[in-house]
Amino acid sequence: MRSIPSLLHGDTPLDEVAADLRLRDWTTLDIDPGHALLVAAATEARAHQAIVRLRPASTGRDAGIRLAGMRGDDTLWLDAPACGGAARDLLAALDGLREGLNRRLTLGLASVEAHFAHYPVGAGYARHVDGFRSDDARVLSLVLYLNRDWPADAGGALRLHLRDGPRDIAPMQGRMVIFLSADVEHEVMPATLPRYSVAAWFRQRPRPA
Ligand code: OGA
Ligand code: MN
Repeated sequence: MRSIPSLLHGDTPLDEVAADLRLRDWTTLDIDPGHALLVAAATEARAHQAIVRLRPASTGRDAGIRLAGMRGDDTLWLDAPACGGAARDLLAALDGLREGLNRRLTLGLASVEAHFAHYPVGAGYARHVDGFRSDDARVLSLVLYLNRDWPADAGGALRLHLRDGPRDIAPMQGRMVIFLSADVEHEVMPATLPRYSVAAWFRQRPRPA
């Protein structure tokens, strides 16, 4: 039997993530930028982008947001038929993370959804929260960066607006940021280079109507 792909080695990183999330509403974790799953995902994202498979985030699940001038990214959901093995493995790894978090925290994470994102040079995403007013299913947001050798002066930070002030996180390959979807306002600063990431949301089951 094929084992479930994993981004993390052993229990310690997830124990630390869970410990952080018990204390505050965000955390960050760096995994090896050379991890085979990351390298494959970074390659796959760029291959999709090269043939325009990532589309402006104005259709489908995020309809309307780009129209308001909020965001300039192109996205492709990891469960799209066009996706390949790296996307599938990454989605499986994220689902494994979901199970690991459920064992440690009582967040009731029932499923994960995730997309590749590409921000063209100069594009960003204005300050927002990930929870939709109409839908509180998104509990935890996760962003995983796919940019090897990201220069310190290239911009493109994820800016978290925290209670004690803003915190900028550079989008280096292997860096993972996890935060409470409904609580943490954040924005993506424009960059001088194309910027690749995977954004994922761990969802609870919607409340019965
Ligand atoms: C998002 C988002 C942050 C990032 O897709 O909702 O906020 O750093 N992404 O790419
Ligand atoms: Mn967001």
